[in-house]
Amino acid sequence: MAIRVKTTRRKVFEHDAPMRVVAVLGGRLSEEGRLLDSELDGAIGQILKETKFKGEFGTTMHLPLPRLQVLLVGLGRLRGHRLGDVRLAGVRVAEAIVERGVREAAVENFLAARFGKRETSRALAEGLYLGGYRFNKYQGGGKPPRARFVIAQGYGPAAEQAGQLAAGVYFARDLVNEPPNVLNPVELARRAEAMAREAGLEARVLGPEEIQELGMGAYWAVAKGSDNEPRFIELVYRPPQPSARRLALVGKGLTFDTGGYSLKPPEAMKTMKGDMAGAAAVIGAMQVVAALKPPVEVRAYVAAAENMISGHAYRVDDVIRAMNGKTIEVLNTDAEGRLTLADALAYASRAEPDAIVEISTLTGSCVVALGREVAGLFAADEALGRGVQRAAEAAGEKVWPMPMEEAYRRKLNSKVADLANVGDRNGGAIQAALFLAEFAEAPFVHLDIAGPGFAPAAEEHPYGPAGGTGFGVRTLVQWVLDQA
Ligand code: BES
Ligand code: MN
Ligand code: ZN
Repeated sequence: MAIRVKTTRRKVFEHDAPMRVVAVLGGRLSEEGRLLDSELDGAIGQILKETKFKGEFGTTMHLPLPRLQVLLVGLGRLRGHRLGDVRLAGVRVAEAIVERGVREAAVENFLAARFGKRETSRALAEGLYLGGYRFNKYQGGGKPPRARFVIAQGYGPAAEQAGQLAAGVYFARDLVNEPPNVLNPVELARRAEAMAREAGLEARVLGPEEIQELGMGAYWAVAKGSDNEPRFIELVYRPPQPSARRLALVGKGLTFDTGGYSLKPPEAMKTMKGDMAGAAAVIGAMQVVAALKPPVEVRAYVAAAENMISGHAYRVDDVIRAMNGKTIEVLNTDAEGRLTLADALAYASRAEPDAIVEISTLTGSCVVALGREVAGLFAADEALGRGVQRAAEAAGEKVWPMPMEEAYRRKLNSKVADLANVGDRNGGAIQAALFLAEFAEAPFVHLDIAGPGFAPAAEEHPYGPAGGTGFGVRTLVQWVLDQA
């Protein structure tokens, strides 16, 4: 990664980086800031007095002093912080520094006295990595920003772990950001395999013949309309000591979603390269799991496909059969994600996992309900749902529980098949979750990330630029670590 975060025992004023970053808390310089200020003969305090920088949370002010540059970061009021605020402050710092093209900065270990330097080092390093991400390979010059951050009085191992986590998030973001003419299902599988080889994971990749032989008729129906072949991807992490506990991660992997014959209008089709954000999240999470080596077995599954129109494409009114034998009436070819996931969940269930966490950009309905920054959490198993929610909180990713309202199951009743792939408009995200639950034969949680998986604008992404967010990587990793 072009962003690197290290730690030092020294204080910010003792470091020799050309840029020093200190906090403003309750409108006043932090202790580190005051030490730096006295080293600079009160220049910072003077400017603070003269300008109207209030130090509101997340705001920054750049001071190009004669001897060195200083970046002030507002941490808002004196009290009431959460550890996650340190992560968010780190994001703002990285953004300010990357925008300025600064190559090295010494950063105060914000709020270390309050939360302990180990925890704040981890949160700050995460924020610095996440905020420093850019995807510019297709633009003139096309190199990611290079910057080195040094956390003053930081805890090295925590920063290192943050780096491993960030690598998984970067990988996921890159997968989402790649245009769909480059990242088709074949390329997604290739990159997942290459990562697996590097990280020491097992990888199994299936093509059209095997998909059909296995009876994955729902997945195949979606996939067969495209000239780009589908790829079913399975990644396996086996812990150093054999473990009885087995976890499954399933991600939606539509490398592009036109809607099929239930064609999307042009505006809605924009950003549909991001319809594999769930797949990216599980693949990114597996990279981190391989690095952190928790004592549980984890398998990841992605039924990668492209939802296109052609003489081979599936139609409305088709009846298809999923791997578990259930038949599905297709009433809308744009409700394709749940069809690919039906077979992925049925396949995952065969390994008899203790839990399945599935993540997908599944419904516009969930975006209407929760907006762009909050994922919907649908738990068929309450305890599992609470565990995933707790993990998301710790990771700083916003998820909110939604009801798996059984009364709506009848909306999916079909006159010709075991179930229909859509019901009506009302509670669409819930119906989608109920549909998926029909195919998972283990304690099951569904995360609908149609909102937070892809940020059309940076304002809607708290941890980085517009585009792929990598949402879910950190939650999934945290959840896996919690199972140990
Ligand atoms: N990939 C979309 C869902 C989506 C919408 C993701 C907006 C990201 C942003 C999914 O395949 C889809 O088209 N869902 C339909 C379902 C409907 C036909 C029941 C939708 O949400 O409109
Ligand atoms: Mn769709
Ligand atoms: Zn889709």
